Amino acid sequence: MGIQITPSILNADFGNLAAEVGRIPSADMVHVDVMDNHFVPNLTLGLPVVEALIRVSPIPIDCHLMIEDPDRWAPGYAEAGAKSVTFHVEAVKDAVATSRAIRAAGARAAFAVKPGTPFAPYADLLPEVDMVLVMTVEPGFGGQSFMADQMPKVREVREAVRMHGGEVWIQVDGGVSASTIEQCAEAGADVFVAGSAVYGAESAAGAIDDLRALAARHAHG
Ligand code: DX5
Ligand code: ZN
Repeated sequence: MGIQITPSILNADFGNLAAEVGRIPSADMVHVDVMDNHFVPNLTLGLPVVEALIRVSPIPIDCHLMIEDPDRWAPGYAEAGAKSVTFHVEAVKDAVATSRAIRAAGARAAFAVKPGTPFAPYADLLPEVDMVLVMTVEPGFGGQSFMADQMPKVREVREAVRMHGGEVWIQVDGGVSASTIEQCAEAGADVFVAGSAVYGAESAAGAIDDLRALAARHAHG
């Protein structure tokens, strides 16, 4: 699949989401951060807004669920037509059943790990998912500083995916910018969330092009 840039709309204008998606025509997916004020100390949007966004967006939707009880809620985002649905391992009760429910509803399934959460205990889940999200900030807010100390975890996931042999994407999320994307790509990430680096730029489309070119220098193929 190669390099994918998935801009986060967390720092876009929530009053005009359709137009904000229109600013990123070259994006591979639109990253939508769903927060419930329980799993993280912030509240954003939920299924009704995601459904509305799916109706108007020409770009597939990538839902990052930072919520409690994703077992209950995640399949609904897949049924709504999201291309990819990511739950957090820290919140899920039955990761296998939840992944299977997401896939059965026609979406790609993914799990996310917070910075303090190791990957190794979840490596056995690789056959059940299509993507692993390694957080490079504490989830909850956009515009935080990139945590370079998560790069060994990205390498570990890349090695596990190589051993597993399937096509599992590796996404990084948090503080990804022109100055940090190269080390993520070098470590083995291939799907890059960028919020402020895209929506804070004068040209969102230009920022996507720049990020894609920088990541491509280190593509693992
Ligand atoms: C943080 C979210 C991120 C956030 C990224 O909890 O998961 O997707 O929007 O924003 P930046 O790129 O500004 O760190
Ligand atoms: Zn996110």
